[in-house]
Amino acid sequence: MKIQLMVIFGGKSVEHEISIISALQAIRHINKDMYDVIPVYITKDRDMYTGKDITSIEEYQNLPALLKKSSKVVFAKDGDRVYLTDHPSVRKFKKMKLPVDLAFPIVHGSNVEDGTLQGFLKTYGIPFIGCDVVSSAVGMDKHVMKTVLKDYNIPVLDCAIFSKYDYEADSDAVARAVEEKYAFPVIVKPATLGSSIGISKASDHEELEEALSTAFSFATKVLIEPAVTALREINCSVVGDIEEAEASECEEPLNATTILSYEDKYIGNSSKNADSQGMASLARQIPANITPEMRKEVRELAVKTFKALGCNGVVRIDFLYDTAADKIYVNEINTIPGSLSFYLWEPLGIPYEKLIDRLVELCLKREREEKNLLSSFDTNVLSLCSNNALGGAKGSKGKLKV
Ligand SMILES: Nc1ncnc2c1ncn2[C@@H]1O[C@H](COP(=O)(O)OP(=O)(O)O)[C@@H](O)[C@H]1O
Ligand SMILES: [Mg+2]
Repeated sequence: MKIQLMVIFGGKSVEHEISIISALQAIRHINKDMYDVIPVYITKDRDMYTGKDITSIEEYQNLPALLKKSSKVVFAKDGDRVYLTDHPSVRKFKKMKLPVDLAFPIVHGSNVEDGTLQGFLKTYGIPFIGCDVVSSAVGMDKHVMKTVLKDYNIPVLDCAIFSKYDYEADSDAVARAVEEKYAFPVIVKPATLGSSIGISKASDHEELEEALSTAFSFATKVLIEPAVTALREINCSVVGDIEEAEASECEEPLNATTILSYEDKYIGNSSKNADSQGMASLARQIPANITPEMRKEVRELAVKTFKALGCNGVVRIDFLYDTAADKIYVNEINTIPGSLSFYLWEPLGIPYEKLIDRLVELCLKREREEKNLLSSFDTNVLSLCSNNALGGAKGSKGKLKV
């Protein structure tokens, strides 16, 4: 029997469109002899749809038409299995009941990649590929991630953090605090976004004010770092789990602008061929033109970062190389990288199809391990409870405290 593999993508995220590209690209490389693919597209309104046209990228150019000919679905658990079934608003039930064995979340950005979709799947008991809830959440918050990595002595750039409340109470005080802590230029970024959205470099007070205002329009937590001016960027993917993880080839993305922008990443070099879109379309040097010693250091740090954050599946870790100080820093982790970083594995002789098989294996391994953990224990605490003890009723004491 083939595995019923649900590829779930989209969602309410600023990287919604990139997720569609990554997912549809992956679907083309899933071995159809082993898996039946069930594509599930989450709209920006958080509705879920499936259907045969959901896997065609061109259909997304007319979204209302695509949704009209697709089926709006929800999850339903029945016995030990979870099914995709018609949404209750569908007037005439078509009695759809598609079993789902495994989920493959290919989503980017907050509201989906940050542990939310993973938690949703876990609540239903659907095994899923990739990082678990905690590592997804930690990986999405650049500040929390740095805090964990510092604890493992992994080099990260220092940063200052401000909340929307600090900023709204006194934006001048926030700017002053930044200027006291760091010399210009600084980089201002929303703590929980990706794809360079909301990020800017500030070289003076005026630019700083503008950069803060931009960043706070995208997130409630903003991070300010000293800018690395003599910068090269090196990325490396890792596949595995905390027991065993392996680093890929390294790449050097080539920027058209100082900050590697959304356009550099996805638009600059794209063509009509779906295989060359998404992160795979970025102008880049593979392998990165770095010394063997630097390559070794990057790959070791990538594996160390992967394990420190408790990752699973395939991730991409991005580094900032300060060429003036000859120092390398972990900049960020992408727990579901664009194009699943397949192009960093091909140079090591691992085709995209094999990469996906490995991700399924890792998912099943974690599932087996988790099944062996206790998730409940017998207790008779409820037999000791009464409605009176919960409180609220007239005359009740409401003393129960748990
Ligand atoms: N401290 C820094 N110094 C110089 N450039 C930076 C710094 N931090 C980020 N950048 C630039 O901004 C880009 C986006 O920042 P990053 O932290 O990777 O955010 P995102 O999650 O949006 O990709 C990086 O690829 C790099 O070009
Ligand atoms: Mg980045």
